[in-house]
Amino acid sequence: MKDRYGRKIEYMRVSITDRCDLRCRYCMPEGCEKVSMSQILTYEEILRICRTASELGISRIKITGGEPFVRLGCTDLIRSIKAIEGIDEVTVTTNGQTLERYIDELKEIGIDGINISLDTLKPDRYTYITGRGELDRTLASIERSVSSGIKTKINCLLQKGFNEDELFDFAELAFRYGIDVRFIEMMPVGAADAGTGVSNTDVLRRLMERWPDLKADRSTHGNGPAVYYKRSGTEGSIGLISAIHGKFCEHCNRVRLTSQGQLKPCLSFDNGTDLRAALKGNDDELRKVMRKAIYEKPEAHSFSDTENNDDHAEHRLMSQIGG
Ligand code: 5AD
Ligand code: SF4
Repeated sequence: MKDRYGRKIEYMRVSITDRCDLRCRYCMPEGCEKVSMSQILTYEEILRICRTASELGISRIKITGGEPFVRLGCTDLIRSIKAIEGIDEVTVTTNGQTLERYIDELKEIGIDGINISLDTLKPDRYTYITGRGELDRTLASIERSVSSGIKTKINCLLQKGFNEDELFDFAELAFRYGIDVRFIEMMPVGAADAGTGVSNTDVLRRLMERWPDLKADRSTHGNGPAVYYKRSGTEGSIGLISAIHGKFCEHCNRVRLTSQGQLKPCLSFDNGTDLRAALKGNDDELRKVMRKAIYEKPEAHSFSDTENNDDHAEHRLMSQIGG
């Protein structure tokens, strides 16, 4: 369906848990509180919301967390969402720590894509930034995902003075595996200090200096606002997701469902519609509430370069609202 600004809303990100097996500093720092399972939507409730969303024109769904694979039965949920009429595409975002063991099942289900979050290729740094992760496990997951033929993407968040020196190593991963590697600008949400992020304007400048043959790649790669670049003769592309320096709200096509059942029309604001009350009613009531929430999606995010000063600025952690 279209929102009040005429944007076609066809993509929903569904956070199925706020828990994670890692503790990335900008997303879910050590010591953050956990939400009790009783406050988390059941899989039946999530399925009902996805079915209703498909009736409202949502055709693509991304499963996120926290880390989706820490919730038991995640692959069963993916299978059930894939079976909903009108849902053309189901993808998942994961840190890749346990993904390897689910690849065969995901392949059999027919998953449409896997996005793996990875900020460094150095083992010590990986453990530092994620609080407890092991780089080798995520690298093994990437290998398995790529070799199984599932469309695999890597999402990398560069931080000043920390991992920005790995820019070219990440770009080379794209060329080596023939996959998309995307650089995401740090957004001022939750624990993140966007001042520590690297501007994609700088990223592009450095990439063009290193590979002058990089050209804009205008073919469609997915649901999102990434702008892609490619070298001639190579398969993989480099994507830039520039939420801050390339505001793309005008073309936004998405809404989010938090693990606690809030339908969030925009990442930058803390308000949204609590669907738990509506879930107590019948399907018509749920559809009506969801239609109104989607229709009233805000025109644009409220991020400045480094801050979000709106009265309704989102202060919850990224792990709670779905990265
Ligand atoms: N800004 C941008 N991306 C973020 N992520 C987590 N926090 C932020 C933030 N503040 C990303 C992670 C991962 C995904 C789950 O969300 O890097 O790729
Ligand atoms: Fe977990 Fe991903 Fe957040 Fe890191 S960025 S804490 S892996 S949800």
